[in-house]
Amino acid sequence: MAPVLTPDLREEAERIKARYPRERSAIMPLLYLVQSVEGHISREGLREVAELLGITTAETEAVATFYTMFRKGPTGKHLISVCTNLSCKLRGGGELYEDAKQALGPGCEGVTEDGMFTLHEEECLGACETAPVVQVNFANYDNATPELVAEIAAKLRAGEQSPSPSRGELPADLRAASRLLAGLEPEEVAT
Ligand code: FES
Repeated sequence: MAPVLTPDLREEAERIKARYPRERSAIMPLLYLVQSVEGHISREGLREVAELLGITTAETEAVATFYTMFRKGPTGKHLISVCTNLSCKLRGGGELYEDAKQALGPGCEGVTEDGMFTLHEEECLGACETAPVVQVNFANYDNATPELVAEIAAKLRAGEQSPSPSRGELPADLRAASRLLAGLEPEEVAT
């Protein structure tokens, strides 16, 4: 099996590790680094992060399975997360999830046939005052509506400019978002 992290990416990983007083504190950025390559985190990716940090694969797996932003299985190019926790549910999050399912199409709770989308039912995204909240590649859309989700899906599917998130910019895809969360500029990573 080919390694997930190329020699160039291993150098990036060493630079990420050097940012922290204790190497194991780099576990989350390193998991994001793997996700930026694979589009999710495979068993081999978990093993390589463990090896880089001198910890066990069970420890990297414990972190990767605790946090929902780490994808453990095949995932579409774009990750669409709909919060259905209490505040969002009270403001239509459950219905919005069903609307998103329609907009993204068959298979979206796994990966859509065209490989474009994965729909994820998310816990609180920390923006309850703007419920219901939808995330696309980890960028928040406040006060989301079915029309907005349908427009985002159509634009991304057509390769067109999607509506902007409520803050910041929409990452190009899940891999690009993961690169940013690893603390790297997009051009710093060889894909
Ligand atoms: Fe949805 Fe908090 S409950 S953002």
